[in-house]
Amino acid sequence: MPPRPSRPKKAPRARWQRRHPASKPRVLVVGFGRVGGALARGLKKAGWPVAVLPRSDESVRRAVKLNLRLADHENLKEADLCLLAVPDAVVGRLAASLRDDLGAGTALIHCAGALDLSAFGTDPEMLRRARGSFHPLCAVSDAQDDLSGHAVALAASQRELMPVLWRMALALRLRPIEVPEARRAAYHAGAVMAAGLLVALASGAVAAFEEAGVIEDQALGALLPLMRSAIRGVEVRGLIRGLTGPVARGDISVVQAHLSALPAELADIYRALSLRSLKLVRDQLPAETRNALERLLKA
Ligand SMILES: NC(=O)c1ccc[n+]([C@@H]2O[C@H](COP(=O)([O-])OP(=O)(O)OC[C@H]3O[C@@H](n4cnc5c(N)ncnc54)[C@H](OP(=O)(O)O)[C@@H]3O)[C@@H](O)[C@H]2O)c1
Repeated sequence: MPPRPSRPKKAPRARWQRRHPASKPRVLVVGFGRVGGALARGLKKAGWPVAVLPRSDESVRRAVKLNLRLADHENLKEADLCLLAVPDAVVGRLAASLRDDLGAGTALIHCAGALDLSAFGTDPEMLRRARGSFHPLCAVSDAQDDLSGHAVALAASQRELMPVLWRMALALRLRPIEVPEARRAAYHAGAVMAAGLLVALASGAVAAFEEAGVIEDQALGALLPLMRSAIRGVEVRGLIRGLTGPVARGDISVVQAHLSALPAELADIYRALSLRSLKLVRDQLPAETRNALERLLKA
């Protein structure tokens, strides 16, 4: 007889869930910048009990304008989740300063991709508290940005907290992924390559157009739809079949012409990324072409 499939293990239920199984966790967002605003607005839209604790008068005004409930330090005691949506460098200091205001069962969550959970410090009381990370993989440039459709990286110090973070992610229509604490830096480097460095790459492409005499506005207007079409190709066909350009075609003379036309700084970027392209398509090119491209790009 084939073995019977094992029954999936039930996710552990967090403290607040045991108390009120149907209730949504009470969330308090500290810091009302881009991510704090986007999270608070998304949770409010999803019908979660959320309040914000902004710092400056300007942030208070923005929160009021967006109809968000304002909290004070007293409310920290009642929160199930306290999200620190503040600059990375502030997380440890702020967590320590909130220590006496938080409820015993309030979990502290940061939103930083670059930080692991040691960012909350090593105070024994802090180590007893549930701590987590909720890092939306979205370039948030305004508090009114919509997070839905993106991924979010989750980490939790206690097993019980993870299902709560999953639930919050799904309420925000974010796709959760769990990132091992020990490999956090590599994970964050990948995220930076896909967002900030993509912008840097766009700026290099604009500079190449300027070498050809096309002005910046016109260049960006032409390049953005091109970039979107490249991403669409990867979305539909994957990395290898989505790759276009002279390396994918094995066109050595075009690559040679590009390297001669570009100033040294741009040529370096072009070489590094072309070698990466070559890695993607190397099995599809004749050995002779592959080797010639490699020699040219490494010269
Ligand atoms: N932006 C993104 O694309 C993005 C994406 C994913 C994750 N993250 C992470 O999300 C976190 C927040 O980033 P952000 O881009 O939202 O930053 P942000 O727009 O600069 O907002 C930071 C907020 O923190 C507040 N703040 C600063 N110091 C504080 C303190 N000591 N106490 C209380 N509040 C304080 C600021 O208050 P005032 O308004 O009063 O100055 C500001 O509203 C960071 O960990 C970041 O790595 C950002």
